[in-house]
Amino acid sequence: MEKIKETLNYLRNKIDNFKPEIAIVLGSGLGVFCDDISGVSIKYSEIPNFLTSGILGHKGELVYCKIFEKNCVIMHGRFHYYEGYSMQDCTFWIKVLKMAGVKTLIITNAAGGINKGFNIGDIVLINDHINFMGTNPLIGRNNNSLGERFPDMSNVYDFNLRNLAKKCAYDLNIEIKEGVYLATTGPSYETAAEIKAFSILGADVVGMSCVPEAIVSNYLKINTLAFSIVTNFATGISKNKLSHDEVLLTGKKAGLKLSSLIKKIINKID
Ligand code: HPA
Repeated sequence: MEKIKETLNYLRNKIDNFKPEIAIVLGSGLGVFCDDISGVSIKYSEIPNFLTSGILGHKGELVYCKIFEKNCVIMHGRFHYYEGYSMQDCTFWIKVLKMAGVKTLIITNAAGGINKGFNIGDIVLINDHINFMGTNPLIGRNNNSLGERFPDMSNVYDFNLRNLAKKCAYDLNIEIKEGVYLATTGPSYETAAEIKAFSILGADVVGMSCVPEAIVSNYLKINTLAFSIVTNFATGISKNKLSHDEVLLTGKKAGLKLSSLIKKIINKID
Protein backbone atom coordinates (compact mmCIF):
# COMPACT_ATOMS: atom_id res chain seq x y z
CA MET A 1 0.00 0.00 0.00
CA GLU A 2 2.86 2.40 0.83
CA LYS A 3 4.42 1.69 -2.55
CA ILE A 4 1.14 2.31 -4.36
CA LYS A 5 0.73 5.64 -2.57
CA GLU A 6 4.29 6.69 -3.32
CA THR A 7 3.83 5.98 -7.03
CA LEU A 8 0.45 7.67 -7.07
CA ASN A 9 1.82 10.81 -5.41
CA TYR A 10 4.62 11.01 -7.95
CA LEU A 11 2.18 10.70 -10.85
CA ARG A 12 -0.29 13.19 -9.37
CA ASN A 13 2.44 15.80 -9.08
CA LYS A 14 3.27 15.30 -12.75
CA ILE A 15 -0.26 15.58 -14.11
CA ASP A 16 -1.91 18.10 -11.77
CA ASN A 17 -5.59 17.31 -11.33
CA PHE A 18 -6.02 14.99 -14.31
CA LYS A 19 -8.04 12.00 -13.14
CA PRO A 20 -7.87 9.07 -15.58
CA GLU A 21 -11.03 6.99 -15.91
CA ILE A 22 -10.11 4.64 -18.73
CA ALA A 23 -6.80 2.80 -19.05
CA ILE A 24 -5.54 1.08 -22.17
CA VAL A 25 -2.57 -1.28 -22.21
CA LEU A 26 -0.90 -1.68 -25.58
CA GLY A 27 0.50 -5.01 -26.69
CA SER A 28 3.31 -5.77 -29.15
CA GLY A 29 3.09 -3.59 -32.25
CA LEU A 30 0.02 -1.70 -31.05
CA GLY A 31 1.97 1.51 -30.64
CA VAL A 32 0.03 2.95 -33.61
CA PHE A 33 -2.77 3.60 -31.14
CA CYS A 34 -0.76 6.61 -29.93
CA ASP A 35 0.09 8.04 -33.36
CA ASP A 36 -2.70 10.62 -33.39
CA ILE A 37 -2.75 11.21 -29.65
CA SER A 38 -1.11 14.06 -27.81
CA GLY A 39 -0.76 13.96 -24.08
CA VAL A 40 1.66 13.95 -21.22
CA SER A 41 4.14 11.07 -21.37
CA ILE A 42 6.04 9.78 -18.38
CA LYS A 43 8.75 7.18 -18.83
CA TYR A 44 8.42 4.07 -16.66
CA SER A 45 12.08 4.47 -15.75
CA GLU A 46 11.23 7.76 -14.00
CA ILE A 47 8.26 6.40 -12.03
CA PRO A 48 9.02 5.12 -8.52
CA ASN A 49 8.32 1.38 -8.10
CA PHE A 50 7.63 0.87 -11.82
CA LEU A 51 9.55 -1.78 -13.71
CA THR A 52 11.22 -1.10 -17.03
CA SER A 53 10.22 -3.12 -20.04
CA GLY A 54 12.94 -4.21 -22.41
CA ILE A 55 10.87 -5.97 -25.04
CA LEU A 56 11.06 -4.88 -28.67
CA GLY A 57 7.89 -3.07 -29.71
CA HIS A 58 7.14 -1.82 -26.20
CA LYS A 59 7.92 1.81 -25.56
CA GLY A 60 7.83 1.96 -21.79
CA GLU A 61 5.82 5.02 -20.93
CA LEU A 62 2.52 6.13 -19.48
CA VAL A 63 0.59 8.59 -21.63
CA TYR A 64 -2.12 10.73 -20.04
CA CYS A 65 -4.48 12.06 -22.69
CA LYS A 66 -8.04 12.87 -23.67
CA ILE A 67 -9.82 10.63 -26.16
CA PHE A 68 -13.23 11.98 -27.15
CA GLU A 69 -13.28 14.15 -24.02
CA LYS A 70 -12.68 11.10 -21.80
CA ASN A 71 -9.71 11.15 -19.44
CA CYS A 72 -7.49 8.24 -20.42
CA VAL A 73 -4.14 6.80 -19.51
CA ILE A 74 -2.25 4.57 -21.92
CA MET A 75 0.26 1.97 -20.72
CA HIS A 76 2.56 1.99 -23.72
CA GLY A 77 4.35 -1.24 -22.97
CA ARG A 78 3.59 -3.89 -20.39
CA PHE A 79 5.56 -6.09 -18.03
CA HIS A 80 5.79 -9.78 -18.69
CA TYR A 81 6.32 -12.61 -16.23
CA TYR A 82 8.91 -14.12 -18.59
CA GLU A 83 11.11 -11.06 -18.09
CA GLY A 84 11.80 -12.43 -14.63
CA TYR A 85 9.56 -10.15 -12.59
CA SER A 86 7.08 -11.49 -10.06
CA MET A 87 3.41 -11.67 -10.98
CA GLN A 88 2.75 -9.04 -8.31
CA ASP A 89 5.31 -6.63 -9.79
CA CYS A 90 3.99 -7.21 -13.33
CA THR A 91 0.52 -6.08 -12.25
CA PHE A 92 1.44 -3.37 -9.70
CA TRP A 93 0.52 -0.59 -12.14
CA ILE A 94 -3.12 -1.70 -12.21
CA LYS A 95 -3.43 -1.08 -8.46
CA VAL A 96 -1.91 2.38 -8.92
CA LEU A 97 -4.32 3.22 -11.73
CA LYS A 98 -7.29 1.93 -9.72
CA MET A 99 -6.36 4.29 -6.88
CA ALA A 100 -5.95 7.07 -9.46
CA GLY A 101 -9.61 6.63 -10.44
CA VAL A 102 -9.55 4.18 -13.36
CA LYS A 103 -12.89 2.38 -13.78
CA THR A 104 -12.32 0.65 -17.11
CA LEU A 105 -9.29 -1.22 -18.41
CA ILE A 106 -8.90 -2.14 -22.07
CA ILE A 107 -6.23 -4.78 -22.61
CA THR A 108 -4.66 -5.48 -25.99
CA ASN A 109 -2.17 -8.16 -26.89
CA ALA A 110 -0.64 -10.17 -29.68
CA ALA A 111 -1.57 -13.83 -29.73
CA GLY A 112 -1.18 -16.99 -31.73
CA GLY A 113 -4.31 -18.36 -33.41
CA ILE A 114 -5.39 -21.84 -32.33
CA ASN A 115 -8.97 -21.80 -33.60
CA LYS A 116 -8.82 -22.96 -37.22
CA GLY A 117 -11.48 -20.40 -38.14
CA PHE A 118 -9.13 -17.56 -37.20
CA ASN A 119 -6.81 -15.81 -39.63
CA ILE A 120 -3.65 -13.78 -39.27
CA GLY A 121 -4.63 -10.16 -38.63
CA ASP A 122 -7.96 -11.07 -37.02
CA ILE A 123 -9.13 -9.07 -34.02
CA VAL A 124 -10.42 -11.36 -31.27
CA LEU A 125 -12.68 -10.15 -28.50
CA ILE A 126 -11.66 -12.21 -25.48
CA ASN A 127 -14.69 -13.62 -23.70
CA ASP A 128 -12.88 -15.81 -21.15
CA HIS A 129 -9.46 -17.17 -20.33
CA ILE A 130 -7.55 -20.22 -19.19
CA ASN A 131 -4.74 -19.48 -16.79
CA PHE A 132 -2.04 -21.94 -17.82
CA MET A 133 0.78 -19.97 -16.18
CA GLY A 134 0.91 -22.18 -13.12
CA THR A 135 0.70 -19.22 -10.78
CA ASN A 136 -1.59 -16.32 -9.89
CA PRO A 137 -0.87 -12.63 -9.25
CA LEU A 138 -3.13 -12.64 -6.17
CA ILE A 139 -1.00 -15.18 -4.29
CA GLY A 140 0.24 -13.68 -1.03
CA ARG A 141 -1.31 -11.83 1.88
CA ASN A 142 -4.53 -10.15 0.79
CA ASN A 143 -5.20 -6.48 1.36
CA ASN A 144 -8.95 -6.49 2.01
CA SER A 145 -9.21 -2.79 1.23
CA LEU A 146 -8.22 -3.56 -2.37
CA GLY A 147 -10.30 -6.66 -3.05
CA GLU A 148 -11.62 -10.00 -1.87
CA ARG A 149 -9.45 -12.98 -0.98
CA PHE A 150 -11.37 -15.28 -3.35
CA PRO A 151 -12.67 -13.11 -6.18
CA ASP A 152 -15.45 -14.37 -8.43
CA MET A 153 -14.28 -14.93 -12.01
CA SER A 154 -17.58 -15.33 -13.85
CA ASN A 155 -17.51 -11.95 -15.60
CA VAL A 156 -13.83 -11.06 -15.91
CA TYR A 157 -14.32 -9.72 -19.43
CA ASP A 158 -17.30 -7.53 -18.71
CA PHE A 159 -20.46 -8.63 -20.49
CA ASN A 160 -21.76 -5.10 -21.11
CA LEU A 161 -18.43 -3.88 -22.43
CA ARG A 162 -18.24 -6.88 -24.75
CA ASN A 163 -21.66 -6.04 -26.12
CA LEU A 164 -20.61 -2.44 -26.59
CA ALA A 165 -17.47 -3.63 -28.41
CA LYS A 166 -19.56 -5.76 -30.77
CA LYS A 167 -21.90 -2.88 -31.49
CA CYS A 168 -19.02 -0.49 -32.19
CA ALA A 169 -17.33 -3.06 -34.46
CA TYR A 170 -20.59 -3.43 -36.37
CA ASP A 171 -20.96 0.34 -36.74
CA LEU A 172 -17.40 0.63 -38.04
CA ASN A 173 -17.81 -2.36 -40.32
CA ILE A 174 -14.89 -4.10 -38.62
CA GLU A 175 -15.12 -7.86 -38.41
CA ILE A 176 -14.22 -9.27 -35.01
CA LYS A 177 -13.95 -12.84 -33.78
CA GLU A 178 -14.59 -13.95 -30.24
CA GLY A 179 -12.84 -16.53 -28.12
CA VAL A 180 -10.93 -17.88 -25.14
CA TYR A 181 -7.37 -16.74 -24.43
CA LEU A 182 -4.96 -19.21 -22.91
CA ALA A 183 -1.87 -17.79 -21.21
CA THR A 184 1.47 -19.53 -20.89
CA THR A 185 4.46 -18.00 -19.14
CA GLY A 186 6.60 -18.08 -22.31
CA PRO A 187 9.14 -17.00 -23.37
CA SER A 188 9.46 -20.07 -25.58
CA TYR A 189 6.60 -20.45 -28.01
CA GLU A 190 4.48 -23.58 -27.67
CA THR A 191 5.15 -26.97 -29.16
CA ALA A 192 2.70 -28.46 -31.65
CA ALA A 193 1.63 -31.00 -29.02
CA GLU A 194 0.90 -28.23 -26.53
CA ILE A 195 -1.22 -26.34 -29.06
CA LYS A 196 -3.16 -29.51 -29.82
CA ALA A 197 -3.78 -29.96 -26.09
CA PHE A 198 -4.81 -26.31 -25.64
CA SER A 199 -7.24 -26.65 -28.52
CA ILE A 200 -8.88 -29.63 -26.82
CA LEU A 201 -9.04 -27.60 -23.59
CA GLY A 202 -11.08 -24.94 -25.38
CA ALA A 203 -8.52 -22.25 -26.17
CA ASP A 204 -8.91 -20.12 -29.30
CA VAL A 205 -5.78 -18.00 -28.95
CA VAL A 206 -2.56 -18.31 -26.98
CA GLY A 207 -0.29 -15.64 -25.56
CA MET A 208 2.04 -14.69 -22.74
CA SER A 209 0.24 -11.77 -21.13
CA CYS A 210 -3.32 -10.56 -20.51
CA VAL A 211 -4.35 -13.12 -17.88
CA PRO A 212 -2.43 -11.75 -14.86
CA GLU A 213 -3.67 -8.26 -15.75
CA ALA A 214 -7.26 -9.40 -16.15
CA ILE A 215 -7.17 -11.31 -12.85
CA VAL A 216 -5.94 -8.24 -10.95
CA SER A 217 -8.25 -5.86 -12.78
CA ASN A 218 -11.26 -8.07 -11.97
CA TYR A 219 -10.08 -8.35 -8.34
CA LEU A 220 -10.01 -4.54 -8.12
CA LYS A 221 -13.50 -4.37 -9.65
CA ILE A 222 -12.30 -2.51 -12.71
CA ASN A 223 -14.51 -3.22 -15.74
CA THR A 224 -12.27 -5.09 -18.13
CA LEU A 225 -12.28 -5.59 -21.87
CA ALA A 226 -9.57 -7.41 -23.82
CA PHE A 227 -8.63 -7.93 -27.45
CA SER A 228 -6.07 -10.11 -29.13
CA ILE A 229 -4.62 -9.55 -32.54
CA VAL A 230 -3.85 -12.87 -34.18
CA THR A 231 -0.30 -12.21 -35.31
CA ASN A 232 0.49 -15.78 -36.35
CA PHE A 233 -0.94 -19.26 -36.43
CA ALA A 234 0.06 -21.12 -33.29
CA THR A 235 2.67 -23.86 -33.68
CA GLY A 236 1.45 -26.77 -35.75
CA ILE A 237 -1.58 -24.87 -37.03
CA SER A 238 0.56 -23.72 -39.95
CA LYS A 239 3.88 -25.02 -41.24
CA ASN A 240 5.77 -21.78 -40.72
CA LYS A 241 8.21 -21.20 -37.86
CA LEU A 242 7.34 -18.44 -35.41
CA SER A 243 9.29 -15.21 -35.30
CA HIS A 244 8.91 -12.11 -33.15
CA ASP A 245 9.39 -9.93 -36.28
CA GLU A 246 6.31 -11.51 -37.88
CA VAL A 247 4.36 -10.87 -34.69
CA LEU A 248 5.36 -7.18 -34.71
CA LEU A 249 4.58 -6.62 -38.40
CA THR A 250 1.09 -8.11 -38.26
CA GLY A 251 0.43 -6.39 -34.96
CA LYS A 252 1.04 -3.06 -36.64
CA LYS A 253 -1.34 -3.67 -39.56
CA ALA A 254 -4.26 -4.98 -37.55
CA GLY A 255 -3.33 -2.49 -34.83
CA LEU A 256 -4.69 0.37 -36.91
CA LYS A 257 -8.10 -1.28 -37.15
CA LEU A 258 -8.15 -2.20 -33.48
CA SER A 259 -7.10 1.34 -32.56
CA SER A 260 -10.09 2.85 -34.29
CA LEU A 261 -12.39 0.28 -32.69
CA ILE A 262 -11.07 1.01 -29.20
CA LYS A 263 -11.38 4.76 -29.71
CA LYS A 264 -15.01 4.33 -30.74
CA ILE A 265 -15.65 2.18 -27.66
CA ILE A 266 -14.07 4.84 -25.45
CA ASN A 267 -16.34 7.42 -27.05
CA LYS A 268 -19.39 5.33 -26.17
CA ILE A 269 -18.47 4.25 -22.63
CA ASP A 270 -20.79 5.90 -20.08
N1 HPA B 1 2.26 -18.02 -28.74
C1 HPA B 1 2.42 -17.33 -27.60
N2 HPA B 1 2.42 -16.01 -27.56
C2 HPA B 1 2.28 -15.34 -28.71
C3 HPA B 1 2.12 -16.01 -29.93
C4 HPA B 1 2.12 -17.42 -29.95
O1 HPA B 1 1.98 -18.08 -30.98
N3 HPA B 1 1.99 -15.04 -30.89
C5 HPA B 1 2.07 -13.85 -30.25
N4 HPA B 1 2.23 -14.01 -28.93
